[in-house]
Amino acid sequence: MTILQKLIQQAKKPKGFVGSLMLRIMNKAHKGMNTWLMRQEVIKDGDTVLDIGCGGGNTLRSLSKMNPSGTIYGIDFSAQAVQESIKTNETDVANGKVIVTQASVSSIPYTDKFFDTITAFKTHYFWPDLANDVKEVFRVLKDGGKFIIISELYKINYHMKAYKTKPEIQQLFESVGFQTVTIQENTQKGWLCITGLK
Ligand SMILES: C[S@@+](CC[C@H](N)C(=O)[O-])C[C@H]1O[C@@H](n2cnc3c(N)ncnc32)[C@H](O)[C@@H]1O
Repeated sequence: MTILQKLIQQAKKPKGFVGSLMLRIMNKAHKGMNTWLMRQEVIKDGDTVLDIGCGGGNTLRSLSKMNPSGTIYGIDFSAQAVQESIKTNETDVANGKVIVTQASVSSIPYTDKFFDTITAFKTHYFWPDLANDVKEVFRVLKDGGKFIIISELYKINYHMKAYKTKPEIQQLFESVGFQTVTIQENTQKGWLCITGLK
């Protein structure tokens, strides 16, 4: 395995010392995207929110600040990411405001229509079966709830074989049942934000 392949593997499922280091770097490097999400004011105070692929937990921390009276859930299939997310959100985890669980997007351990808003930052291009995984997200989202994917365009192009183009992703979201799908691009940064309203 080349160094690049090893790094991609660590970004996909962080593990051990190198994984822990990468999660801390990602917490710092991904701050700009958090700010982009916040500017769009997508989270209402009091919402029950899920962040999928929560990594080092920085998004959980931002979501918690944006939403003082709500509860923020995080899932990640990497044990290392869960550990780092808990560390990043120590106080909120201790008082039950942030809840982090090891789980895959393919089998989200919550009941139907549980969340008001679900976010997925820089992670959907790693998911094993995007069509089924988006269906699983739809299951746990309340009617009227929002699912927001934010990702870099070049990583979508690099990692994904299907659902790379805006029409493809729009069609996927609509076929799963989302009523409205909005796709915004930050052309300067090469970021894509896909929002599905259930
Ligand atoms: C590039 S990191 C991004 C982490 C974080 N969202 C951020 O913006 O800093 C991708 C994360 O998605 C997680 N992930 C990848 N595939 C997943 C899956 N099938 N289910 C749950 N989490 C997954 C990885 O473990 C990793 O923590």
